[in-house]
Amino acid sequence: MKIPQHVAIILDGNGRWAKKKGMPRNYGHTMGAKNVEVVCKAAHDMGIKYLTMYAFSTENWNRPKNEVDALMKLLESYLKNCDRTADKNNMRVRVIGDTSKLSEKFQKQIAELEEHSKHNDGLNLQIAINYGSRDEMIRAMRAMTKDVVNGNMKEEDISEEVFSNYLDTKDIPDPDLLIRTSGEQRLSNYLLWQLAYSEFYFTDVPWPDFHKEELEEAILAYNKRDRRFGGLTEK
Ligand code: IPE
Ligand code: IPE
Ligand code: MG
Repeated sequence: MKIPQHVAIILDGNGRWAKKKGMPRNYGHTMGAKNVEVVCKAAHDMGIKYLTMYAFSTENWNRPKNEVDALMKLLESYLKNCDRTADKNNMRVRVIGDTSKLSEKFQKQIAELEEHSKHNDGLNLQIAINYGSRDEMIRAMRAMTKDVVNGNMKEEDISEEVFSNYLDTKDIPDPDLLIRTSGEQRLSNYLLWQLAYSEFYFTDVPWPDFHKEELEEAILAYNKRDRRFGGLTEK
């Protein structure tokens, strides 16, 4: 079986999952956060090297304050736990997105975790927090423009590769497979540049119910795809 090197996941459906059980949306987020660890372990066991999880979008600030607060608290506590388990699981953790909008305390915690886990070479886990692909590209363009204006780079040196290196996903290969749970079939501003040639897999299973078996099913579907990259033979 072909194992994708990089799997990106839009973990969706926490709220609807909870509502169906007669529970508040935030209960869905708590259970969804627990599931991140389950899927990380399953991915690592299957030999996946990179996993990128969409945890909070630049648009998610539009949700009610109590939900935003609960999500931030859960993310902070998830990352605190990661700090303890990263070495045990040989996991390198990075956060993508505009972290400058997060609380000082949270930013410090993220920087420490990234530094602490940077030599681990098992699973590479990227967590997207305050991430929006359009925002990421605008930040990249600003940084690139600055380098051109300051004379550090010439306009004619700008290439796809150079641009990629200004993105938050610098040094991370493009995803081979994108999974979105819970029935929606859209990208919601996720990795628009990086997903140019990825395979897409949509499932009705809500995120809190998406476990090892569901991940295996997605990998099986991926194996039936014929990737061409615009040519005629698979790369
Ligand atoms: C995914 O679940 C988690 C985040 C977007 C933070 P949702 O909160 O989007 O759940 P639904 O889609 O409303 O069911
Ligand atoms: C996308 O899910 C963002 C995350 C999973 C963090 P949303 O639930 O926010 O997306 P829409 O609003 O349904 O497009
Ligand atoms: Mg949703």
